[in-house]
Amino acid sequence: MNRIFSGVQPTGNLHLGNYLGAIRNWVALQNDYECIFCIVDLHALTLPQDPAELRAGTREVTAAYIAAGIDAERCIIFNQSMVSAHTELAWLLACLTPLGWLNRMTQFKEKAGKQRDMAGLGLYAYPVLMAADILLYKATHVPVGEDLKQHIELARDIAGAFNRRYERDFFPLPDPLIFGEATRVMSLRDGTKKMSKSDTSDYSRINLTDDADLIALKIRRAKTDPEPLPHTIDELEKRPEADNLVGIFAALDGISRETVLEAFGGRNFSSFKDALTIQAHRVIGDITDKMRRLMADPGHIDAVLRRGAERAAAIAAPNLRQVQEISGLLRP
Ligand code: AMP
Ligand code: TRP
Repeated sequence: MNRIFSGVQPTGNLHLGNYLGAIRNWVALQNDYECIFCIVDLHALTLPQDPAELRAGTREVTAAYIAAGIDAERCIIFNQSMVSAHTELAWLLACLTPLGWLNRMTQFKEKAGKQRDMAGLGLYAYPVLMAADILLYKATHVPVGEDLKQHIELARDIAGAFNRRYERDFFPLPDPLIFGEATRVMSLRDGTKKMSKSDTSDYSRINLTDDADLIALKIRRAKTDPEPLPHTIDELEKRPEADNLVGIFAALDGISRETVLEAFGGRNFSSFKDALTIQAHRVIGDITDKMRRLMADPGHIDAVLRRGAERAAAIAAPNLRQVQEISGLLRP
């Protein structure tokens, strides 16, 4: 059986990168896999969070999942902290994870900043909790953006470490699913930095809650170079800002970059940006409207999360129990 697990942190500013790199792909996958989609609130706490904003963020990401087209009946949608098996398994896996593996994680180095000694233990152990999320459900596939590839590799290594230690084939080694024309959406202000929820400039990203005027303004202000759009992918790849906007257009329209260049090669950015604005608004406007309607009924969102947590726990509990038996904590 193939099972998918993936998640987004409820840390505000859900953006086009989250949508095109992750959530949109999940919508396509729900037809072929058993899917579990999580709002990873425990991961959010690895950096300081305002409690009220965290609660609101959890509802907002839930609304975004549903508004984007994830079916809460067919898929399981829940927030991580409601299923305590995640943290229990994380400890057991932490005991199997060599420090050297964590020291290699590039995201920790970015997030910890210069004062690494002041970073929390949770931030450092974050990839182990992520491995626990995936392995708790024995997920076989994990659809994510390019930035999380290293984390999935670590989850595979940890699964292998468990299987070797206890000499059995218990955890499947999860495969990353990274696909689409926008696996790494870059900042609109700097084509070498990824689009991120935490960028201090709101003009660096298009949020799923931005209205038509703001989307238009952000795209108009997006950094570009003075040349017209190129005709070939080779030329495009040398120009990070142009490449990013063409990739976004392609992903929004469900076509390849080549096809975008066939239509826009040789044309200037202002006409391309007008077309991109129309595409972005067409896709995001629809999601924003649905999100707004869902957010107006928080009772419904909370009910989805409660029901999702029950269904998730029903899968998680027997798996955790088996791990506890295998590792000698419980009698089989
Ligand atoms: P996060 O915002 O870190 O909670 O990420 C949630 C999901 O969105 C993960 O699957 C990420 O890989 C994906 N993601 C985040 N930022 C980007 C981006 N700039 N481009 C593509 N995917 C992204
Ligand atoms: N850490 C991921 C992020 O920052 C979110 C996440 C947590 C996740 N657990 C996961 C993604 C398990 C995929 C599978 O985006």
